Amino acid sequence: MTAINEVVDLALEGAVAVITVNSPPVNALSANVRTGIDEAVKAAGADPAVKAIVLHCAGRTFIAGADITEFGKPWKGVPLNDVNATIEGSAKPVVAAIHGTALGGGLEVALSCHYRVAVPSAKLGLPEVKLGLVPGAGGTQRLPRIVGVEKALETIAFGDPMSAKVALDSGLVDQMIEGDLRAGAIAFANGLITAKAPLNKVRDRTDKLAVDASVFAAFRKANARKFRGFEAPEACIQCVEAAVNKPFDEGMKFERETILRLMPGVQSRAQRHVFFAERQAAKIPDVPETTPTRTIGRVGIIGAGTMGGGISMNFASAGIPVTIVEMKQDALDRGLGVIRKNYENTAKRGRLTMADVEARMARYTPSLDLSALADCDLIIEAVFENMEIKKEVFGKLDAIAKPGAILASNTSYLDVNEIAASTKRPQDVIGMHFFSPANVMRLLEVVRGAKTAPDVIATAMKLGKQIGKVAVLVGVCHGFVGNRMLAQRQREANKLILEGAMPWDVDRVLYDFGLPMGPFAMSDLAGLDIGWSRETSKSSTPRELLCELDRRGQKTGAGFYDYDEKRNASPSPVTEKIILDLAAAKGVNRRQISDEEILQRCIYPMINEGAKILEEGIAIRASDIDTVWVNGYGWPVYTGGPMFYADTIGLGTVLDVMKRFEGQHGADFKPSALLEKLVAEGKGFKDL
Ligand code: NAI
Repeated sequence: MTAINEVVDLALEGAVAVITVNSPPVNALSANVRTGIDEAVKAAGADPAVKAIVLHCAGRTFIAGADITEFGKPWKGVPLNDVNATIEGSAKPVVAAIHGTALGGGLEVALSCHYRVAVPSAKLGLPEVKLGLVPGAGGTQRLPRIVGVEKALETIAFGDPMSAKVALDSGLVDQMIEGDLRAGAIAFANGLITAKAPLNKVRDRTDKLAVDASVFAAFRKANARKFRGFEAPEACIQCVEAAVNKPFDEGMKFERETILRLMPGVQSRAQRHVFFAERQAAKIPDVPETTPTRTIGRVGIIGAGTMGGGISMNFASAGIPVTIVEMKQDALDRGLGVIRKNYENTAKRGRLTMADVEARMARYTPSLDLSALADCDLIIEAVFENMEIKKEVFGKLDAIAKPGAILASNTSYLDVNEIAASTKRPQDVIGMHFFSPANVMRLLEVVRGAKTAPDVIATAMKLGKQIGKVAVLVGVCHGFVGNRMLAQRQREANKLILEGAMPWDVDRVLYDFGLPMGPFAMSDLAGLDIGWSRETSKSSTPRELLCELDRRGQKTGAGFYDYDEKRNASPSPVTEKIILDLAAAKGVNRRQISDEEILQRCIYPMINEGAKILEEGIAIRASDIDTVWVNGYGWPVYTGGPMFYADTIGLGTVLDVMKRFEGQHGADFKPSALLEKLVAEGKGFKDL
């Protein structure tokens, strides 16, 4: 065996040269890995004893991708395109032996090989689009030549990895290797030698490229909604078009120009920011990674309503037994019925088997008695949003729960310290704020009380990850990070419709900004009567007046909007009249409000509130706030979250506009001290 460098070596097995990459943890394409592969292929090519070459990786995976830490830095070592050209240009067949995850640049190396074999558990993909990029080392030119245009479009523009089985079926993988991969790949290579198999260079293949040009238009149309606002998917499609329409080298040039254009752009920077922000959120300065965690073998849930049911599914799906407690049998039956129906719907879509559904349901122990929670390691309360009720529940839990059990509340707004004070074990009390639908939304705000123990925090964060959530640690305040900022937007949206805009104007501006829906469409979806009752209605807001007319949102067929039987919304003359009459009654002189003002009025106070949240230490870092908004509220990932967005427009601009609004509309727009300070220092949130 010859060491080519610290991370690549070359061994001869009969007539087959085996190149092994060994660069833990994931064999990412660092300069050393690239240079090592390039030299190894050349060395094997120069050795007359070698008739075929296998490229194989040690450790847990084939080359998992680019070395993302090298992004934006000056290139060192052999560029990946040159490595790939060396491999493809080899006069002896090169076989990629794939296990683990061959993603991005890793798959592009494999695409440059003449053949690919893989173990059944391997995953292959080009996820660059998720970072706002296109694959930049031939992926967009070679993949369609191997799997055909349609499959390539889907793989490149969505960025989701495919299983080895799918890769085999689509021709991306030539042979599945059960058992030892290295030995299997060598046997495959020997087979090539014996058969005098052709090199079959991917760059020279054109058989799969003959498609009707309408394929591209159809793909764009079918996915317009999914791709809305994003630049990278369209760039991916254009690169695949170039593969079809241009000779290989010109296609490669087009791909190169495309990635160089996208790399410094706001969208890719924002998407990379979000990627790193999510990983960063797991780090807590005073709760180091070495903090011990408590073992969670069984979880208790109190309340089988909207949230309790959804929350419980996360644990049942992760294989953790759940005890779920309700007040009345019919509420318990209804809750479990909804859970079962959700699982069955997933099964209908082919993503679970009926046996999985039954296995999940079998993890539930339903009960009407809180004392059934005595053996739970974590108990999450999801009863009504009412402090007195929550305190009563926690008081009882204190008497029932075993020592060391974690007592969590899913409250949206209430003071976790006050809840904790109703027990004699405030160190074990924490907030675990899930987002609706709790079995789907990725965000989990973990709310740290004044007395919450570090190991309780560490356990909640770890458990969040285990159930597939992005957990963000926040402090106690009204509404924590997400809902506290949302309240700013809601207030301004309500003011704007009295001042001159209509709900559909506000919604359109925020939708066009990239949010899944605007505040009024969202209210209609959630139900306008949350927290409203006829007895206490003051008839002083459009929402109250709509509720009084039984226009309570989508569920009643009308709210701010009118809905047809398919729930398509249209602007409502009834709502318009309510708003105009109310404005007249309040003596408001309605005016024309520009889209720009709508956007700034809704978003800038949120940014300002985010700054206050940072000032108060409610969030650890600005990027945590971005993580909350991207994962909990559908904030467009291509703007990076509210705080990253603020940095891209410039905090000076945000401050100027806030001051102008403060002059026009008063104290709601008073700039936070942190915003003033950062602007004075010429800094952004990224510098904190
Ligand atoms: P919900 O009304 O759908 O469910 C509450 C359930 O708790 C009901 O089924 C009720 O029978 C049960 N319950 C009440 N007191 C109980 C007791 N003492 N023992 C056992 N069960 C009891 O309410 P939802 O929407 O699930 O909200 C629950 C909590 O989650 C609230 O604190 C809410 O603020 C919070 N939350 C709600 C979100 C939402 O979008 N709905 C989002 C995030 C948090």
